Amino acid sequence: MHQEIIERFNSLKEKQLSIDITRGKPDKDQLDLSNGLIDIKIPTSSEDGVDLRNYGEPFGIIEARKLGSELLNAPIENILAGEQSSLLLTYQTVLSNFLFAEPTPWKNLENPKIICPVPGFDRHFMMLEDFGIEAVPIPLLDDGIDLNVFEEVLKTGDDFVGILCVPKHSNPSGEIYSDENLKKMFELGSNYSDKFLFLFDHAYLIHDFLPTPEQKPLWKVVEESKVQDQTVVTTSFSKVTFGGGGISFMATSGHSLDLIKKVRTTMIICPDKLNQKRHVEFFKNVDNIKHHMKKHAELVRPKFEIAYEYLEKLPKECGSFSRPTGGYFITYSTSKPVASKVVELCKDLGVLITPAGSTFPKNYDPNDSVIRLAPTFVSKDELVDAMNAFITCVEVAHFGINI
Ligand SMILES: Cc1ncc(COP(=O)(O)O)c(C=O)c1O
Repeated sequence: MHQEIIERFNSLKEKQLSIDITRGKPDKDQLDLSNGLIDIKIPTSSEDGVDLRNYGEPFGIIEARKLGSELLNAPIENILAGEQSSLLLTYQTVLSNFLFAEPTPWKNLENPKIICPVPGFDRHFMMLEDFGIEAVPIPLLDDGIDLNVFEEVLKTGDDFVGILCVPKHSNPSGEIYSDENLKKMFELGSNYSDKFLFLFDHAYLIHDFLPTPEQKPLWKVVEESKVQDQTVVTTSFSKVTFGGGGISFMATSGHSLDLIKKVRTTMIICPDKLNQKRHVEFFKNVDNIKHHMKKHAELVRPKFEIAYEYLEKLPKECGSFSRPTGGYFITYSTSKPVASKVVELCKDLGVLITPAGSTFPKNYDPNDSVIRLAPTFVSKDELVDAMNAFITCVEVAHFGINI
């Protein structure tokens, strides 16, 4: 049996592959869906008469904020429409609390900590490291965070300032948080402190490619739990129109809204209102956005299906994999501590995979098990080669075969 694996490895090596499946980016055919945006004609003023070519409207033009309000199901007064990056809004939220949170800015706390469900998004961990905020990992279960661990962790100190989650199609393992999970999280977090911040990166809010369990709109759960002032939700069109060329939205309230306004006022006079207008003219309403996302799904789903087909070929004893119904990633969890070895072997075959460990704070996966796969940004033929290489390397590492 091992002889066959060795032969497969060697014949893949002869192919001199050069394939990168490290990042979850839309492929060219997905970007083409939004080409209409490039030369769309727009007026020079917003619907309430603001000149889009000049400074003004620091929190976004009214029609973009209306779209954000529909998308996030939050009242328009709670919505800010920003530049092209939701990650920037998340960063600005952390920064504003770091500098100005009341009664104590996070910078003045001895050891501020944010709870991060794992596996998680590498850039979230990088961001927290920038601030010297400790990212405290807790496990993710199928329907959201492990609430028991969350509760226990909160008992261990008073420097927890918040939690940072991707509540739908979580990056990278695809979990969908249930409404019950969110409600309990709100109850435990707000009992811990009425300053505890619930920070939601809703990057994959409308990115289903297979039937997905229903979620109540997040902001509705927030309202029912009465935690509007301690919640921030961000999202963007980076994977709806153009990566880094969309627009972003935030929903928040009370002192959290005041804080973000304060920090943004110093930092940026206003967002790019012309791009906001282009997007509003292009989509007009949320139904059209959902229709557009169905076209993305038609392009993305076959790639995930290819990935699943190959992962299914692996002997069960080697590990297990997530089967997300949306988003951009699959995780493979090796049963032995060989994730780094698999990534290294793939590199040897010319297939680049996100470094093992990067889905954990400080790049430290205690079990050396989790591997993130991003199947969207390659052609189907390349993906077949990449997946073939991946499963071969998993077998080589699992069975300890000398290559
Ligand atoms: C969870 C998550 N948040 C944010 C982003 C980046 O979003 P944006 O381009 O809006 O900053 C990504 C991109 O991969 C992501 O996976």
